Amino acid sequence: MDRRSPEHVPQGERMTPRRIAVLTSGGDAPGMNAAIRAVTRCALAEGWTVAGVRHGFLGLIEGSFEPLTARSVAGILQRGGTLLGSARCPAFLTEEGRRTALRSLHRAEVDALVVIGGNGSQAGAFALGQMGFPVVGVASTIDNDLSGSDVTIGVDTALNIALEAIDRLKTTASSHQRAFLVEVMGRKCGYLALMAGIAGGAEVVVVPERETTPEDVALQLRAAYERGKAHALAVVAEGARHDAEALSAYFRERHEATGFDLRTTTLGHVQRGGAPTAYDRLLATRLGAGAVAALARGEAGVLVGTLEGRVQTTPLERVVGVQKSIDPQLFALAGVLNS
Ligand code: F6P
Repeated sequence: MDRRSPEHVPQGERMTPRRIAVLTSGGDAPGMNAAIRAVTRCALAEGWTVAGVRHGFLGLIEGSFEPLTARSVAGILQRGGTLLGSARCPAFLTEEGRRTALRSLHRAEVDALVVIGGNGSQAGAFALGQMGFPVVGVASTIDNDLSGSDVTIGVDTALNIALEAIDRLKTTASSHQRAFLVEVMGRKCGYLALMAGIAGGAEVVVVPERETTPEDVALQLRAAYERGKAHALAVVAEGARHDAEALSAYFRERHEATGFDLRTTTLGHVQRGGAPTAYDRLLATRLGAGAVAALARGEAGVLVGTLEGRVQTTPLERVVGVQKSIDPQLFALAGVLNS
């Protein structure tokens, strides 16, 4: 098999890689290690060699590669974070940064790249693909905001962590007849807040995709007490127009008028840390294997995700910049269930 720069491959002729690189980029997600392991071992099984890139696209620009072997990815399946390190890399947003990265890939004799990450990372993967380099993305972000995958690596773990916190907060909230605001991650997408709200039995869910005013939140929390509840809970996505900080300030100023005692908990990066759940390990393994299978078929410029329960590929151009919407029926259901 030739090792040719993809620019020299006649259109329509597919190139199967012999040496691939893999990187993790953007916010880390529990399960990324399982994906690295699956990519590495499946590629080795194809007879290819694998290079790990340190700290995402930054490592590409700096030419920071390390060989990955079956042994070097042993014992990482159950570990949170990412063995390779991750980064947000403003330099890769520039044409010059991407050209430097491309030179590093050619120097390291890499034929194709697997990018494990979320929206921003897949935009980077797409940009590299547009320059003629074969790239396959793997859908990984706790935000679950990527089109092309019903669910992304890390969401299940993050949701379970948020739920454990919510369950604990509800017990102390009941003891004191308090209201609680719990802020979960989700910059542009309310998926995590909505699911945590439904599964955690919240009175109100505040997401970036829907306008919920502080007055609406106050109304719902007060109504919960009037129905005889011992506590009231609002789950708020960090990216909502009225985030937990704004809502807390509102309630602080109107403490007397609202008629209840309120506390705020921001879960933050706790949701991204720790061991992946069984679901995330399996999803990451399937998607990592799917990335290698896509490359073996000669596919590139695609995102590997899961759609209707099956591992499938979607062209990156149909993924990048597309905002995944929350399910309006589930949002409505959250409102019905809070009675
Ligand atoms: O990875 C997604 C995410 O966790 C968002 O939910 C959050 O807004 C953001 O990353 C936080 O980024 P950082 O870790 O760079 O502060």
